[in-house]
Amino acid sequence: MMRPNPEELPSVAVVGLGYVGSVEAGVLAARGYRVVGVDLREAVVEAVDRGQEPIVEPLLSERLLKGKSLGTLSATTDLADAIFRTRGALVCVGTPRGDDGRLDDTAVLGAVESIAKAVGKGVSYTIVVRSTVPPGFFRRAKTRIADIASANGSQLGLAINPEFLREGSAVRDREEPELIVYASEDDAASAFVESLYADRASRISRVDPESAEMLKLVCNTWHALKVSFANEVARLARPHNVDPFAVMELLCRDTKLNTSSAYLRPGMPFGGACLVKDVASLEAYARDNDVNVPVLAHVLASNRAHLDHLVGAVLEHKPKRVAVIGIGFKAGASDVRDSAPVALVQRLLDHRVEVHVADSSVLDARVPPLGLLALEQSLNDKRAYARESVADAVLHADVVVVGHPCEEDRRTLVRLQPRVVLDVSGELTRALTAEERALLAPRVVLSTPARKAVP
Ligand SMILES: NC(=O)c1ccc[n+]([C@@H]2O[C@H](COP(=O)([O-])OP(=O)(O)OC[C@H]3O[C@@H](n4cnc5c(N)ncnc54)[C@H](O)[C@@H]3O)[C@@H](O)[C@H]2O)c1
Repeated sequence: MMRPNPEELPSVAVVGLGYVGSVEAGVLAARGYRVVGVDLREAVVEAVDRGQEPIVEPLLSERLLKGKSLGTLSATTDLADAIFRTRGALVCVGTPRGDDGRLDDTAVLGAVESIAKAVGKGVSYTIVVRSTVPPGFFRRAKTRIADIASANGSQLGLAINPEFLREGSAVRDREEPELIVYASEDDAASAFVESLYADRASRISRVDPESAEMLKLVCNTWHALKVSFANEVARLARPHNVDPFAVMELLCRDTKLNTSSAYLRPGMPFGGACLVKDVASLEAYARDNDVNVPVLAHVLASNRAHLDHLVGAVLEHKPKRVAVIGIGFKAGASDVRDSAPVALVQRLLDHRVEVHVADSSVLDARVPPLGLLALEQSLNDKRAYARESVADAVLHADVVVVGHPCEEDRRTLVRLQPRVVLDVSGELTRALTAEERALLAPRVVLSTPARKAVP
């Protein structure tokens, strides 16, 4: 591990010395950063200033004491003094849940403003928000501090850098983070954030502010979803005299399909010969046994909602004629049972849209339930056409829907330049070469178009 050079380490104010802030202060001070902790609570400030932990957390006491012995740690209730003595501040104040479920960012926004006001004329300073903030926070905070900076004559940079530590292993999590994500639109602020992770540079991802805000909430919701899933499995297993711990332990042993990135890419609704029917079966079992499993019971509903969303994304372009390229339930699959693209075709036909389908992998399969001709027959609609080639289907289409395009599909789309291409899984966009992108990108839309930034 590369050790940072103490001469090059910036001085840092850590504002808010609760779980996140005291760990941050201890870890940085023990590494040689000059840290000034700030909190409104005097008892907390006095403890940190003595090198004592204000909360019970393994290894925290050791890190704070090391900071004290190195002479790199102090704490104060005087925010202005802390800002005067440092180059940047890490804001770690609380963002509790409001009555309506929204995060209450009053304290964090207040802290950001107070820091901005304390920065002197002509001084460059970086404010890094480590608290968990609601979507749209960065833009609001940036506008506020821009006004303060122009009134004060200071240069303020803003970054958000969500924290992913867990209480109970907070020091280790902060010292060895798997994921370091930050967002800033300012180079000096970016350099400041990166200097906080000098020994883990390869793990740093710089993203746009909206992604950073969303990611933190999505990560925690993902953890919560896993807990709820495991608990629902337990409630389902017991009536069947099955040991839920053994079931979940076995589930976790499959690190290829179960605990991996498999199935975690957004795209088409799930389908195929097994997923839909087996989820339905587990739902039915829960109903039969009177077991309340809200997460499992809404999996198929969520899948249907995603199909509705795709139908809406196509109809938004008011097409008379749509081409659906790739009708198997997943990449390279010729099986059209419970296939989402087929369901999409059916729904578009219901909306009186003419639909032309083509698929490079199933074109020759004529045996039901596989094959385009069998599909055309089963759709039993004069406006449904199975096409011999992708080019035939795409020609004259107002909207082309692609899920998992193969290389040949991609080349055809670039050559024919359809009016609108709905890139459902983003695979087309990812596969385009720079040259192809220049030709096709303006015509490609993702199935979840971006909305305007939250003001
Ligand atoms: N606790 C966790 O495990 C954890 C993990 C990751 C992220 N987070 C997020 O980090 C943020 C902080 O969480 P926490 O658990 O450390 O909160 P906390 O409530 O333990 O600590 C917040 C501290 O900020 C202080 N404070 C409030 N306003 C202040 C101000 N204006 N100036 C100085 N100090 C002020 C409070 O006195 C308190 O000591 C939250 O947004 C939380 O969602 C928490």
